[in-house]
Amino acid sequence: MSEAAVGFAKANGERFVEELKALLRIPSISTSPEHVEDVRKAAEFVADGLRKVGIENVRLIETSTAERKGHPLVYGDWLNAGKEAPTVLLYGHYDVQPAEPLDEWKSPPFEPEIRDGNIYARGAVDDKGQMWMHVKALESLITADGKLPVNVRVIVEGEEEVGGEGIAAFVREHGEQLKADAALVSDTEMFAPELPTLCVGLRGMIYTELEVKGAATDLHSGMYGGAAPNPFVAISQIIAKLKGEDGRISIPGFYDGIEEPTADELKAWKSLPFDEEEYRSHEVGSTELTGEAGYSVLERTWSRPTMDVHGMPGGFIGAGAKTVIPAKATAKISFRLVPGMKSESTFAKYKKFVEEIAPKGVTVEVRMIHSGEPIVVSTDNKYVRAATSAMAEVFGKDTVFVRGGGSIPIVGDFVRELGIPTVMMGFGLPDDNLHAPNEKFHLANFHRGIESIVLFLDKVGAGV
Ligand code: BES
Ligand code: MN
Ligand code: MN
Repeated sequence: MSEAAVGFAKANGERFVEELKALLRIPSISTSPEHVEDVRKAAEFVADGLRKVGIENVRLIETSTAERKGHPLVYGDWLNAGKEAPTVLLYGHYDVQPAEPLDEWKSPPFEPEIRDGNIYARGAVDDKGQMWMHVKALESLITADGKLPVNVRVIVEGEEEVGGEGIAAFVREHGEQLKADAALVSDTEMFAPELPTLCVGLRGMIYTELEVKGAATDLHSGMYGGAAPNPFVAISQIIAKLKGEDGRISIPGFYDGIEEPTADELKAWKSLPFDEEEYRSHEVGSTELTGEAGYSVLERTWSRPTMDVHGMPGGFIGAGAKTVIPAKATAKISFRLVPGMKSESTFAKYKKFVEEIAPKGVTVEVRMIHSGEPIVVSTDNKYVRAATSAMAEVFGKDTVFVRGGGSIPIVGDFVRELGIPTVMMGFGLPDDNLHAPNEKFHLANFHRGIESIVLFLDKVGAGV
């Protein structure tokens, strides 16, 4: 029963953290070609970890095809709880975002360090630490009880941070290999410290590259300035026309079909402990908050779409000055999507609009890098109830339901392709610095996460 497993987790907590440190030392940055081997090392580490705790049929599943070189999936299962027992699919990702800017880190991103009860490293909370909680919850149950209370399949991907194309193809083509009654995802945040939280919705996204070309080659800006088109000026003009000063995106038809949150959901959001001024000054750290007029911060980040520019490679960016009219400019631009929007049609509207507004003298090309659909999950099922009561028990407080502004592309496929209820039980904190320098995971939450997962699996097994 769970007491023994929780006791085991408590007694072995320090070792669990040491193991996590070893995983965090592997720079499994999925977007960098130079880290392909590190990404594989992290996959092997997770596979070994699963084998050691008694998970069966553990293997790497290659996702490379003739068209693309992908990172492997890690699969394992334990299906000895009997045919009557439910099967839970545990999902996480072992890849991480790049660590730059490196000089902003207080300790190096791939040399995990514990300070003030937090473990600092790239991937600490997103998602190596949270994925490792799953593995350690399984270990605690198997070691303490000799068995699991439910059947389990584990799938851990190495491409979440680059769009999750490999796992999406696997689910489409071999969905039966992940057959389960529900999925558990720990890759989201709690709304506030000490406040147990289930995430019930994620935004989708399209991540694009806009390339603008002017002259046939770079030109001397004195000799040609005044006559030759400048792609950086053109790209700025295009970007400026995508969004109005009121925060509304100007692409025709962009907001068509959006599903509003229900009145109950909006009411629940209003009662969450949210201090806009504190959020502005401590989390965002800007002089003002921006965004679409007429919506609250939680609505703007959870249930409204947005557009952001991530960087503009090209031209002269070295120290000093160079008087050049670059031949081309690029911008990395993404949109977050909400229920009612589809990635493909949103991309088509955006591309058409950009082509229409392109200034004269330049050619534009709009490319999709990756995409994922938005999702809101149902909360009316026994899996959500098991998670709600597991977390409430561990934290000693009622669990709140929130949405997340981020995206986990495969969650939509679990719900739509596999047709299974998905529980997003995450233990990150708002100040964990995901994707930023000094990413951390609050160690108390690592341990409480393991306990919550143990209790969750036990409750699901008991049919609660
Ligand atoms: N774990 C995050 C997503 C997340 C964060 C959801 C916080 C809810 C709350 C995930 O690893 C992530 O960063 N996803 C990317 C997806 C993209 C690259 C396809 C994102 O949201 O930018
Ligand atoms: Mn993540
Ligand atoms: Mn992430």
